[in-house]
Amino acid sequence: MHVSALLPLAALVPATLCQLNTLAKAKGLKYFGSATDNGELSDTTYVSILSNTGQFGQITPGNTQKWVYTEPTQNTFSWTQGDVITSFAEGNGQLLRCHNLVWHNELPSWITSGTWTNATLIAALKNHIANEVTHYKGQCYAWDVVNEAFNDDGTYRVDVFYTTIGPEYIPIAFETAALYDSTVKLYYNDYNIESAGAKSTAAQNLVSSLKARSIKIDGVGLQAHFIVGPTPSLSSQISNLKSFTALGVEVAYTELDIRFTSLPPTAAGLTQQGTDYANTVSACVETTGCVGVTVWDFTDKYSWVPSTFSGQGEACLWYSDFTLHPAYYSVVSALGGTAATTTLVTSRTTSSATATTTTASGTVAKWGQCGGIGWTGGTVCVAGTTCTYSNAWYSQCL
Ligand SMILES: *[C@@H]1O[C@H](CO)[C@@H](O)[C@H](O)[C@H]1NC(C)=O
Repeated sequence: MHVSALLPLAALVPATLCQLNTLAKAKGLKYFGSATDNGELSDTTYVSILSNTGQFGQITPGNTQKWVYTEPTQNTFSWTQGDVITSFAEGNGQLLRCHNLVWHNELPSWITSGTWTNATLIAALKNHIANEVTHYKGQCYAWDVVNEAFNDDGTYRVDVFYTTIGPEYIPIAFETAALYDSTVKLYYNDYNIESAGAKSTAAQNLVSSLKARSIKIDGVGLQAHFIVGPTPSLSSQISNLKSFTALGVEVAYTELDIRFTSLPPTAAGLTQQGTDYANTVSACVETTGCVGVTVWDFTDKYSWVPSTFSGQGEACLWYSDFTLHPAYYSVVSALGGTAATTTLVTSRTTSSATATTTTASGTVAKWGQCGGIGWTGGTVCVAGTTCTYSNAWYSQCL
């Protein structure tokens, strides 16, 4: 257990100089954002961080705009829970990525167990999209119209829509969404399309085929649910993003988290996590047409990972106690910020850190930053500590 229970709340709120959304916008992105969910919004510490538009300029509802919540019985719509999230974002002046209209998962049983013909399922699909897009019209920056339509080998995922309608359900979904909100950005969203491969190619072919038919598609969301270590390199992520933008769509990382497959992470693992986060954020920054990065919640406390991948986790930028992963500072540096002025937990078993302070003699105090790309502060550590390389953007007096 690291020692952080006594930190004052102020220590958990980094100075403006290293806040994610502020930095992302200064780098030309539209936003740095986070997913959230209804249950979490009763957590006041959580809400105070999520509401800070210096940190997060965009919100994605994690679940409650999905079909099972919004149309639990056919043609009976329920917006209450989704509206809690959209109202929260609007109250804070945050953009919304609305998520999602058509997905194989979190479907109501009347869809999955219904008896359908091609015509009746198309009618139900169109009715769902028409109602949901109309309800949220004017509120969303983007809609994830179709989510996760492909298998990893690039073939179509077999679900009720594909089985009954065939691949045509995708163009139908995009055409219908465009009909009911002509200004919202329409996205295709998927995972394992973050570097070149069969699935990324399939998503690119989908974009091309929609464009060839003059069906509106504005963007592709790359989920980026990664594992520490085997994440795509910076250059492979950039070239992959460019193969999408070359087709005339914008791109965004929409569900970024980078999990450890065993816990607790080692110090080297935390450094690697920082490198991995920085590579993805940098790929967006360095690609014209990449509009933003969304983390799939910002704290381990509400991450989906432990309940989905047993024994795995600590995938987010904030630990469960709202102290910061070293990866937070790697992201700050990737966004051109200064990783200098706040709490850092570099080891999950032994240490907790306080703000970088410089002593009267000009040396950097224990735990303080002493190097890294863009670092202009002190580089000499106080006696008894050594300037220790953490990653390219961060060295620390330990
Ligand atoms: C279902 O109908 C649509 C629209 O007419 C058509 O494009 C599609 O090919 C049909 N699917 C099947 C499986 O017949």
